[in-house]
Amino acid sequence: MEVGMAFWPARTLLTAIKLGLFTELGSGKKTGKELQNALGLHDRSNPDFFDTLVALKFLERDDEGESSKYSNTPETAIFLDRNSPSFVGGFLEMAHDRLYPFWGDLHEALRTGKPQNETKHGGAGVFEELYSKPERLEQFMDAMAGISAGNFQAFAEKFDFSPYKTLTDVGGATGLLSTLVAKANPHMTCTSTDLPQATEIAIHKIAAAGVADRVKAEPIDFFRDEIKPADVVTMGMILHDWNLEKKMILIRKAYDALPEGGAFVAIENIIDDARRENAFGLMMSLNMLIEFGEAFDFTGADFDRWCREVGFKRTEVIHLAGPASAAVAYK
Ligand SMILES: C[S@@+](CC[C@H](N)C(=O)[O-])C[C@H]1O[C@@H](n2cnc3c(N)ncnc32)[C@H](O)[C@@H]1O
Repeated sequence: MEVGMAFWPARTLLTAIKLGLFTELGSGKKTGKELQNALGLHDRSNPDFFDTLVALKFLERDDEGESSKYSNTPETAIFLDRNSPSFVGGFLEMAHDRLYPFWGDLHEALRTGKPQNETKHGGAGVFEELYSKPERLEQFMDAMAGISAGNFQAFAEKFDFSPYKTLTDVGGATGLLSTLVAKANPHMTCTSTDLPQATEIAIHKIAAAGVADRVKAEPIDFFRDEIKPADVVTMGMILHDWNLEKKMILIRKAYDALPEGGAFVAIENIIDDARRENAFGLMMSLNMLIEFGEAFDFTGADFDRWCREVGFKRTEVIHLAGPASAAVAYK
């Protein structure tokens, strides 16, 4: 029942984020009436909507009755207030607008193997479609930064960069991985590469982060161009976007861009080899069915087999945060 009805708490939280409720409370405690008015909601929303969020532990309430005031919890203040530097609500806003309605057609995706998103009725691919409108591109870039920030911070701290000097991040979106690696490893120089529209955004984000002296952003189409040579080549949630044939093209290009002893790193929700434990990684693979049809997530054993076929000597999986890990192949 908890899982079957999980769309209730999910939609309640996603709606609160979309309404900007946690951002509204970022400026201080409010009564139900004040919050209802600030968000432009009907009387029927108060107190049910706000008290549901209290019961789900996403809000606090300081007393009983109409005069009691709601406030963010320490967690929602840090992670769901849009004015917080650690805001991770971008992916959840995209989940509200895109993934929630698309997952409503999971049964059709399972029957047809076809994507159930904007591309469902033919037309442009996911990234072309997403990048056709600046506000969509911004939302997608925020979404990626939101879901990847914790993984990239863990990678920047856990991975041994001492043998290396340079890194190329392929499909780097806002340049966040390169920025966090450079900040945590002062000897490293990084280049974040992505499609031209994403590269424009990365240039601004990198400058704003104050690391433009050691982090560059450059455009690439990774199916047309070669990867910029470096000691470490990273791909965050790139391989899972494609079918096996295209995964192998990207792994070969990474191999060609590395020197002897270099490292290729795929940061993903790596599924456990027995495919029994990492439910989020498995559901992310179903999400790739919803978004792309033939794209899929994978295990460490899959990654090892593909990388050895290309010529890598050995691989390892380094756990990062939650369901995410870094799968690493050494040349
Ligand atoms: C799922 S996002 C991952 C973003 C980031 N690496 C992360 O882990 O948060 C996939 C990225 O691949 C980029 N991308 C898609 N097709 C590409 C192509 N042909 N050449 C270069 N980048 C591409 C997209 O622009 C997007 O930033």
